[in-house]
Amino acid sequence: MNYTLNQLQVFLKIAETGSITKAAEALHLSQPAVSIQLKNFQDQFDIPLTELVGRRIYITDFGKEIAEAVENIIHQVHAINNKTLAYKGQLFGRLKMAVVSTGKYVMPYFLAGFIEQHQGIELRMDVTNRAQVIDSLMCNEVDFALVSIVPQGLKVDSLELFQNKLFLIGNADARLKRGRKGSEIFKDLPLIFREKGSGTRQTMEKFIESNDIPALKRLELASNEAVKQAVLAGLGYSIMSLVGVKNELYNNDLQIIPVEGLPIKTMWSLIWLPNKKLSPVANAFLEYMREEKSQIIQNKFDWYEQY
Ligand code: PGA
Repeated sequence: MNYTLNQLQVFLKIAETGSITKAAEALHLSQPAVSIQLKNFQDQFDIPLTELVGRRIYITDFGKEIAEAVENIIHQVHAINNKTLAYKGQLFGRLKMAVVSTGKYVMPYFLAGFIEQHQGIELRMDVTNRAQVIDSLMCNEVDFALVSIVPQGLKVDSLELFQNKLFLIGNADARLKRGRKGSEIFKDLPLIFREKGSGTRQTMEKFIESNDIPALKRLELASNEAVKQAVLAGLGYSIMSLVGVKNELYNNDLQIIPVEGLPIKTMWSLIWLPNKKLSPVANAFLEYMREEKSQIIQNKFDWYEQY
């Protein structure tokens, strides 16, 4: 037996996800790299760990037992790392976050200083849409979530950061018909929407509904970045969060189209479950956020004030 820790980690991820593709995604590896690791691991056993039925991979009973043992080994490896750091008096462990898609332009600035101070912290940040972020929080899969619309009817504790502003955005070539005012601006505008479950979409639909905006041509794209690229390419217009378009506005690749009632303002907030027992890492992060948030906002988001 001569397997590596890497092979163990890869095999465990395949067993957990039941898929080479998903394991590769979760480990940020290519599919061929994962397949090779699996093959090298399998070569050390006479009994199959997996079997392929059609295009699906299944873990055999033997594989399941091995996966269970591997999980214990990985657990022990984390324990060794943690003990080493504890011995050196450092904060160690995982910080798990889920952030909404435009939160990826916000959260890293609040994490950078903290992670630099505590090198023993392993950060995991999932970037998805609002519905999935709230699901992860409810399922207790993360310590904190970053949203800009705090969920109603769900008991959470929160720390407000700064305003999220959403404007109608078009590309540099956008030439709107003259003389149109208010909701008329939207006439004939192809609008790009985010996918169902997105908070931005929810906000945009509410605005359209409450302003009686006429029937619009629609496109639907599944991430903020995809919407931005589509607007840049001239495919349409969208109501977008200002944080995600900073550079494009500076470079004059995108423009804000002034419309009555915009920007829509929501509030970037860090939220967590009130009854959650925060880990020492999560507690330290919350303390850091309470102490440093104003300074970080002033240093990193001062550009925001001009809009
Ligand atoms: P979204 O969320 O990424 O789901 O659009 C944005 C938000 O909650 O503000």
